[in-house]
Amino acid sequence: GKYRVISTKSMPGTRWINLLVEQDCRVEICTQKKTILSVEDIVTLIGDRCDGVIGQLTEDWGETLFSALSRAGGKAFSNMAVGYNNVDVNAANKYGVAVGNTPGVLTETTAELAASLSVAAARRIVEADEFMRAGLYDGWLPHLFVGNLLKGQTVGVIGAGRIGSAYARMMVEGFKMNLIYYDLYQATRLEKFVTAYGAFLKANGEKPVTWKRAASMDEVLREADVISLHPILDKTTYHLVNKESLSRMKKEAILINCSRGPVIDEVALVEHLKENPMFRVGLDVFEDEPFMKPGLADLKNAIVVPHIASASKWTREGMATLAALNVLGKIKGYPIWSDPNRVEPFLNENAPPPA
Ligand code: GLV
Ligand code: GLV
Repeated sequence: GKYRVISTKSMPGTRWINLLVEQDCRVEICTQKKTILSVEDIVTLIGDRCDGVIGQLTEDWGETLFSALSRAGGKAFSNMAVGYNNVDVNAANKYGVAVGNTPGVLTETTAELAASLSVAAARRIVEADEFMRAGLYDGWLPHLFVGNLLKGQTVGVIGAGRIGSAYARMMVEGFKMNLIYYDLYQATRLEKFVTAYGAFLKANGEKPVTWKRAASMDEVLREADVISLHPILDKTTYHLVNKESLSRMKKEAILINCSRGPVIDEVALVEHLKENPMFRVGLDVFEDEPFMKPGLADLKNAIVVPHIASASKWTREGMATLAALNVLGKIKGYPIWSDPNRVEPFLNENAPPPA
């Protein structure tokens, strides 16, 4: 191969490798046993000559790595993720390295996990499973693991971009929930969907579902029974959910996070869960991954899973393929790269394209 492309991790499928190899690239997959590579590990990996790197959201892609990549002659980096809060795009631009992400292929997969956590929390599925396995079930009882009926309740979506909108559609259509959402941009297609579905229900003699675009995030916190967070992580969304915002939510609300951990002040969340046993949470992401804040793991009203929202075979293979195409496209000068900064500035499908 003429070009040296590094993947910091082994990724699902073979298509991404074949695409690169067919186009004159030699692909090197890091064989380090440790789960998370340090900046130093990656600098060593890049070495003297490297044309592009496919990296992971667990890696800190800043000044050090982009300057190392640039010195090695590299022009392309792709995160194998839609989120890119681990990437300093300004530093990449400074060193002439284009940055890609992998939106689109993980929209439904991530929304499906958020929906799964919502139902699991509402119906206390994990607690009930633990109860069965502990041999505690000694007969049906009217009050055993009574949870919340989602039908007719309100789902609140903070960040109605691709993933937030897909989640909202699932909850509205699947469970006949009303929708309230907060986003800087109007989610026009989502609004149209809920309106049409509401009309369909009405025509069939059922209570129609409704939607509302909230004027503030607080409105969602106050009114929703299930709240799911789908913003990007940046300075404006760090600790978006804190002690104060938690206190505005209903005492029996359900909070779901499949975005990024630091969007929630996790210490405040643990306190809130302790004080409000009927408040439930479903978390895919954590503030200091791979760690959880003290106490979280002991709480029955929390469901925790290890950042698996995009973990379907189809999606992970698609993410790997997109990441490879991002790097290949830059190396080969494909037209998509006429914009040196290929990362999408907005998650919101309704946002205007960048100027
Ligand atoms: C996963 O968290 C992603 O951003 O793709
Ligand atoms: C519960 O199992 C019922 O039959 O109502």
